[in-house]
Amino acid sequence: MAEERLDKILSGQNIATRTESKKLALKGMLAVNGKITKRSDIKVDPEKDEILVKGVKLIYKKHLYIMMNKPSGVLSASKDKNTETVIDLLPKELRREGMFPAGRLDKDTTGFVLLTDDGELAHKMLSPKKHVYKLYLAGCDKILNNDDVMTFAKGITSGEDVFMPAEMKIISDNFALVEICEGKFHQIKRMFHAIGADITSLKRLRIGSVFLDDSLGEGEFRELTSDEIIGITDSSFKGINSDTLPPAFLSI
Ligand code: URA
Repeated sequence: MAEERLDKILSGQNIATRTESKKLALKGMLAVNGKITKRSDIKVDPEKDEILVKGVKLIYKKHLYIMMNKPSGVLSASKDKNTETVIDLLPKELRREGMFPAGRLDKDTTGFVLLTDDGELAHKMLSPKKHVYKLYLAGCDKILNNDDVMTFAKGITSGEDVFMPAEMKIISDNFALVEICEGKFHQIKRMFHAIGADITSLKRLRIGSVFLDDSLGEGEFRELTSDEIIGITDSSFKGINSDTLPPAFLSI
């Protein structure tokens, strides 16, 4: 990675503002490769050089990738004047500039939302052309049947939108797993309207090959592992196999 100003790196990592970095340097609290630096504007390579802030080694992360189990009632947005957002649920050190939810869930939808500052990865994950499948568990007010499965499999036209063929697997009378690779406005809700049903609950369980960590309670989050960062854009992972789902997901 190219060299960058130390104060810019520290502000980008949400460690200190540029003014704070200047003060830290003057107090002798910044060191690079074992040497105290009294200037915060020196150029360093955060991937190669060892940076200490108040004696603590900086773990540089170019981007953050956070899996959150979104609660109902929270907005999938970066900021909102009136309503709490998924970004508001993060602690300050993870609320870096440029963090956003990659792929919105409706306010009343729960489950897996990816929060990141990596626009390139988000595009790969979201573009319907990339065919990254997302799995949802949907509850509805209709007793589902095989005709509904067939309707989803054929593809659905809703107003001006055409939804690609989608796999549905009925789990019980009113619950089904549905897998789609698009993210059109209220897509699952509109697909269910097309079969005469209203959604009563909706939860995203998987993106690409990465399942929501079932140990995360609503509103909880954790960073993705390096394998999961790859898996989240994995377009080869497709198919609903409820046997491989963590049982907790199907306790409805
Ligand atoms: N489809 C919907 O209708 N809502 C969501 O939140 C996600 C997919």
